[in-house]
Amino acid sequence: MQAVSSTTKQAFVEVCAVEDLWMGEMESFEVASHEVLILNVDGELQAFDGICPHQSVSLVEGRFDGKVLTCRAHEWSFDACTGEGINPKAECLRRFALRIEGGKVFVSTDPSEEQGETA
Ligand code: FES
Repeated sequence: MQAVSSTTKQAFVEVCAVEDLWMGEMESFEVASHEVLILNVDGELQAFDGICPHQSVSLVEGRFDGKVLTCRAHEWSFDACTGEGINPKAECLRRFALRIEGGKVFVSTDPSEEQGETA
């Protein structure tokens, strides 16, 4: 996991360049004390809580086949586009808002901010 620091309290912090994550790749970043997992799903970047809601295992240690993210510990799986649980269906990953500016990827420091909305 790469640590990303922010010297001032702000809504979004830069985590990487767009070209750092190729289609089908994932990487995790520490953003304001949250582990955030960014996945490239068919060329679209998605950001979710990087910790498995089951027993808090880091999801970047799991598998990502380009569509489905699977936790290494007990095989819980999630839709990489939506974060919705596939198995079990009742679970869902928290989404972090993400935006791209000048080829750089910025992630919200607040997981409650949805879908790139900015204040
Ligand atoms: S900790 Fe992820 S499935 Fe159990």
